[in-house]
Amino acid sequence: MEGKIVYSAIQPSGNLTIGNYVGSIRNWLAMQEEYECFFAMANMHAITVRQEPAELRRRTLELAALYIACGIDPERCTLYVQSQVPQHAELAWVLNTVTYVGEMERMTQFKDKSQKHADNINMGLMDYPVLMAADILLYQADFVPVGQDQTQHVEITRDIAIRFNNRFGETFTVPKALILKQGAKIGSLQEPAKKMSKSDENPNASVYLTDDKDAIVRKFKRAVTDSGSEIRYAPDEKPGISNLLTIYAAFAGKTVEEAEKEFAGKGYGEFKLAVGETVADKLAPVQAEQARILKDKGYLGGVLALGAERAFKAARKTLSKVYRKVGFYQGE
Ligand code: TYM
Repeated sequence: MEGKIVYSAIQPSGNLTIGNYVGSIRNWLAMQEEYECFFAMANMHAITVRQEPAELRRRTLELAALYIACGIDPERCTLYVQSQVPQHAELAWVLNTVTYVGEMERMTQFKDKSQKHADNINMGLMDYPVLMAADILLYQADFVPVGQDQTQHVEITRDIAIRFNNRFGETFTVPKALILKQGAKIGSLQEPAKKMSKSDENPNASVYLTDDKDAIVRKFKRAVTDSGSEIRYAPDEKPGISNLLTIYAAFAGKTVEEAEKEFAGKGYGEFKLAVGETVADKLAPVQAEQARILKDKGYLGGVLALGAERAFKAARKTLSKVYRKVGFYQGE
């Protein structure tokens, strides 16, 4: 699998949850060992819902520091801010012309967000998947590690790539989503069938990566469990306990089977406390490292400047190919 390219991104909007960590960043760590990786702060996607500008800027840096604190190596991977590479918007424009309005209207996330932000159903919100396709296709990515909620967007990216290749000749690598078997959809602690989300209004539903130990332990104590008393992985029958087992396994670096064995015969209370403490103890050093990196503005600025430069070079190559294929004049 030498030479394969991995692309993923997270929006610097809202507070990141342990769902984002388990479903994406944790999944990326092993990939940097094997593949050429591009990881972005998707701030252009973030503004499809209203953001407070100063906060968006701050969160962008916090996200970059978090990637590094979690173990993403900025020497090995290209870490960059999406808006610093103009080719994303440029390619999105071209891809818009091979994407149909009907396809975009059918996207689940568009429908959900239109309901949630009924006063702000802007063109960007609808165009969101095309910009995401541009992100992925610019870097000729083979693999896109994401959580379950993003699979539909990777599917449409594949459709757009195939359509473009058919119309204009081989241009883009057709990417594949990489979805974890366990952890691709961490559930809310209050309604485990629903995904844990940055934007949940109930503060007990989501554990944020910035939460301190007290808050984390408290939220897990209050987590909704199921009837019965057995600690067993059975997502349909026991969605609450299964969600907690998945979270525990991810943070303890164990399989769900190992976690089940460890808690066999124990009570819900003891189990929930163990999950909370495990998550908190794993996050504490990440939080400390993130804070340290954030203070080192020169270092972080350097990482992002280097990332933008590397990303720009790769993106320019693809965009120039696309412009040639569609017949855009590029000078003599
Ligand atoms: P975003 O910022 O909403 O989420 C970032 C990543 O976290 C995953 N995720 C979850 N995984 C498991 N359980 C959960 N409860 C959970 N909640 C979120 C998401 O699936 C995602 O992988 N559109 C993307 C950002 C993006 C992107 C890209 C991703 C922009 N361009 C190109 C891949 C490739 C998004 O909104 O992610």
